Amino acid sequence: MKRISKYFLLLGTLMCLSGFSAKQNRQMNSSPSSNDSIEAKIDSLLSIMTLEEKAGQMNQYNGFWEVTGPAPQGGDAALKYEHLRNGRVGSMLTVRGIDQVRAVQELVVNESRLGIPLIIGFDVIHGYKTLAPIPLAEAASWDLEAIRRSAEVGAAEAAASGINWTFAPMVDVSRDARWGRVMEGGGEDPYLGSKIAAARVKGFQGDDLSDPLTIAATAKHFAGYGFAEAGREYNKADIGNSTLYNIVLPPFKAAEEAGVRTFMTGFNTLDEIPVTGNEFLLRDILKGNWNFDGFVISDYASIEEMVTHGFVKDEKAAAKKAVEAGVDMDMEAYSYVNEIVGLVEEGKLDEKHVDDAVRRILRVKYELGLMDDPYKYLDAQREKEVVGNPAHHEAVLDMAKKSIVLLKNEGNLLPLKKQGQKIALIGDLADDKNSPLGSWRIASDDNTAVSVLEGMQKYKGNKLTFEQGAPLVVGRETFINELKFNTTDKSGFPTAVQAAKNADVVVMVLGEHGFQSGEGRSRTDLDLPGVQQELLEEVYAANKNVVLVLNNGRPLAIDWAAENIPAIVEAWQLGTQTGNAVAQVLYGDYNPSGKLPMTFPRNSGQTPIYYNQQNTGRPVDPQPGDEMVFWSHYMDVENTPLYPFGYGLSYTTFKYDNLKLTKNQYDMGEDVQVSVDVTNTGNYAGKEVVQLYIRDLYGSTVRPVKELKGFELVDLQKGEKRTVNFTLSEDELGFYNNQGEFVVEPGEFEIFVGGNSMETLKTSFMLGEE
Ligand code: BGC
Repeated sequence: MKRISKYFLLLGTLMCLSGFSAKQNRQMNSSPSSNDSIEAKIDSLLSIMTLEEKAGQMNQYNGFWEVTGPAPQGGDAALKYEHLRNGRVGSMLTVRGIDQVRAVQELVVNESRLGIPLIIGFDVIHGYKTLAPIPLAEAASWDLEAIRRSAEVGAAEAAASGINWTFAPMVDVSRDARWGRVMEGGGEDPYLGSKIAAARVKGFQGDDLSDPLTIAATAKHFAGYGFAEAGREYNKADIGNSTLYNIVLPPFKAAEEAGVRTFMTGFNTLDEIPVTGNEFLLRDILKGNWNFDGFVISDYASIEEMVTHGFVKDEKAAAKKAVEAGVDMDMEAYSYVNEIVGLVEEGKLDEKHVDDAVRRILRVKYELGLMDDPYKYLDAQREKEVVGNPAHHEAVLDMAKKSIVLLKNEGNLLPLKKQGQKIALIGDLADDKNSPLGSWRIASDDNTAVSVLEGMQKYKGNKLTFEQGAPLVVGRETFINELKFNTTDKSGFPTAVQAAKNADVVVMVLGEHGFQSGEGRSRTDLDLPGVQQELLEEVYAANKNVVLVLNNGRPLAIDWAAENIPAIVEAWQLGTQTGNAVAQVLYGDYNPSGKLPMTFPRNSGQTPIYYNQQNTGRPVDPQPGDEMVFWSHYMDVENTPLYPFGYGLSYTTFKYDNLKLTKNQYDMGEDVQVSVDVTNTGNYAGKEVVQLYIRDLYGSTVRPVKELKGFELVDLQKGEKRTVNFTLSEDELGFYNNQGEFVVEPGEFEIFVGGNSMETLKTSFMLGEE
């Protein structure tokens, strides 16, 4: 029997008293998707809510006790339990599985006065139980449909497990590989990042939020968190207006346009104002200019952290700032539940802000269908069928293969021959079933990834031996503890070297553990950590036929490997199906087509390094060979990256020619048509990401030397040629000035098309009259 929450009974009574018939009430309840009826229901509900109940809707608690067990006694858990029962909680995070979710939902629905259901949030970052590659890896696919599908799979499993809402996608543009959370985003580029943001939002939310297999998405962290100074976690972000409008905000705007239902603020300050108390970002831009009608949640305790930042004097002032700035829900700071009622009663906070926040939260609850049936996501059969479904393993395997980037393949060492080879597989990570799951995987089980060793063992025509070489880490492998690299234990080196000597080909899996990137994992040194570089060099000295498979959540500085090792495969942390994906690529059953979504530096000191940089007034050495010093450079390393943004090889080769524009001069407002021929000139069928960049040669603000403005993933048979067309409209040719206005300025533009941001064909045109 469908259970009706108490609030409907109460609302029904009130409506009867005010002339509404019960029938009208039922009709209203049966069409939750009509906006007008939702708004009318919210009006009615708001009119009967007490201030305490309103503040309760704005309060989110983390669940950290056995919800299905006995009621907690004492401490925070008991307080939270009490608050759930008396309508002072609107949402919970990290409660998962339908039994647990049902338990908290029942507390609220049956025991609180109005019984307004909770919205259950969770970090579904790259899957739920079945894990897809980390988001940065997925971004390397440049395959928007695959990325959408991957989010859809995560959403389905989470929804079937009682979750209504994910705190994803993270759409923070990040240029600094020292920052551990680069693994969670779409990389360094705002254009690619915007497309990926939209794809992920659509994947999570589908077309209908009330579908039991979709969940609401969150664009986070609004805004600037990706620019944490010096890459140090939680540090301030100091960026100018041009960077804010042109680099940081576009993926958020794209998420908003794709219909994302919530935004999350960040831990950082922006221009010395914590973004959780930032009226300019939240009221002026998000809820003002962009007209966002979903709700905004703080980051974890970020409201009370405004006190620690030195922005406000106490928790009360923090709550006031956050509500006024436009933060509608407080994640686990207790600030709203503690302070809002007092603030309003003392006349320090206008209740209209509270009403607006509650309206937004209720709106999303209605859209999810929770207000009509608080238990609609809680179906045991569905949970059993959907979570871990074999089709999801297929989907994440597909995504994993598409995420792999071939960085080097000298002498066509890859793909590996399938027969008659002696292969030595070396490296702690090769045998690891935990690390490949990556960071952010709370709902998955430990040690459930297919390891590279297991993946390679499926190819039986070769003789495979495995040697660890050296342990990668010492310490506990948990999400919340810091892992230390092994820097001393090299006792396994001799056997690894011996295995290499006996082999035809050596495959080495090296890099970072999955818990060495992610939140709180900033690093200053981007080299191969621990003793791995030494191991690599010793093994290489014994056998030059080395294939280096990298596992990492951020760009690494692998200059020695790039110089010496013949084949390098960037395999990130690829989730549940890691080993199968890596083996299929190494053996050529899948031809890699990934392209880097972040620039790889030559050394750590080059960071932050990104392709869409400024020219500066002194971009080149005025007298090469004369050792002139007065130009923009380093004395010890060249300016170019090790591997540029957009870079990635294939087992086949592609030729670009015939870059053409329909004209040399375009009128303002006119679309620019670009075409280029791409031919598969190698020996395999393969996919190529054809990339188009522009340069606006001069403008009212200095424009970057290159900006990605289009890309297409083409699938070409051996020998096949395709003409790829791009259209550049004002959306691509314009930019935001320092006042945040979008402008298109006349002048000369250059167009670059190629397979990465550095190797391109080039042409140019004039736009308008100067
Ligand atoms: C992170 C958020 C995350 C939240 C809830 C915070 O520490 O910054 O991105 O959604 O925790 O787990």
